[in-house]
Amino acid sequence: MTIELSKSPKIDSSLAAIVEDFGGRIVPLEPIGAEVSGIDLTAADSIPSEVRDALERIMAERGFLVFKNETQLEPEDFLRASCLWGGRELHSTHGVHPETPGGNPHIFRLSNDERHGIPDVGPQWHNDGSFLPATFSHSGYHIIRPAENGGGTHFAHQGLAYEALPEDRKERWRRLSSVNSASGVVHPLVHEHPITGQKCIWLHLGMTGAVLEKLPDQDAFRLLHADELKALCHEYNDILNAGLENGYATAFEYNENDCVFIDNLAVAHRASPEAHMPVEQQGLRIMHRSTVKGMQDLAPGFDLPQHVRIDGPNPVGEGVWQGGGVGFRWDDDIRMRN
Ligand SMILES: [Fe+2]
Repeated sequence: MTIELSKSPKIDSSLAAIVEDFGGRIVPLEPIGAEVSGIDLTAADSIPSEVRDALERIMAERGFLVFKNETQLEPEDFLRASCLWGGRELHSTHGVHPETPGGNPHIFRLSNDERHGIPDVGPQWHNDGSFLPATFSHSGYHIIRPAENGGGTHFAHQGLAYEALPEDRKERWRRLSSVNSASGVVHPLVHEHPITGQKCIWLHLGMTGAVLEKLPDQDAFRLLHADELKALCHEYNDILNAGLENGYATAFEYNENDCVFIDNLAVAHRASPEAHMPVEQQGLRIMHRSTVKGMQDLAPGFDLPQHVRIDGPNPVGEGVWQGGGVGFRWDDDIRMRN
């Protein structure tokens, strides 16, 4: 597969001016993302709607925003700021670690030490809430304690990754739909982003149980066989990895007090390998994650249902149909967990 260079768009000057008029400053990070300073997230409720909308649009175009905070945000400040985006309310489906401040059910506390937070989450490319029809619109990451020797998050822009695909893959991938192994929810492999209209690729590499292919020129579907699904997962992994070299993905490292918000329909993410390395080697990492309610179902095309019984018998015919756990294992040599 040949991979072409993709470039993220510049920040529109009229959007940047809206942020600046409010006393903020926004600068692009390279190759994707943008850094915001001068906006007090402890007063998120007082941010005017036009500033919020401008930031949300820049987030969709560049994938994520890093807020540089003068002081450590309280958990409540972080959660209130999360509600600036998308569905504007929290939607939390995770377990609550005993060290979570106040036992707050909206904070997913992650760490490389299980005494401090839940370990080993998200080692492969994915989007949060892929088991829901309306996947989370946005996720937030508030670093409580960055590890001294690194351990951040990789982000890859899924619109720019689509553009980097060869034409034959674009055409084929537009005919594919994935089935979540945990819930049976069906999502298109290529969707149009609700804010930018950009075509974006979408696949969970640790929670996919089947992929359906709409046959060209026929009103019929087939299931991908194991060798085809393996190849697809590798190609998806490869095209996002290639962004690290070709300008549409980044290995982001957190600084103290950073608060990152991502557009969960525009960027895939995974924990960096260092994020899961032991405390003795990396230092202690503690992070709080929030998840924001989706705006609409990420519905498959071709009149496919939003939901199928992945835990029931295979209704399609020969091919991979695997409910539960991490779904189809496409590489036996890598850590896989959703
Ligand atoms: Fe995640």
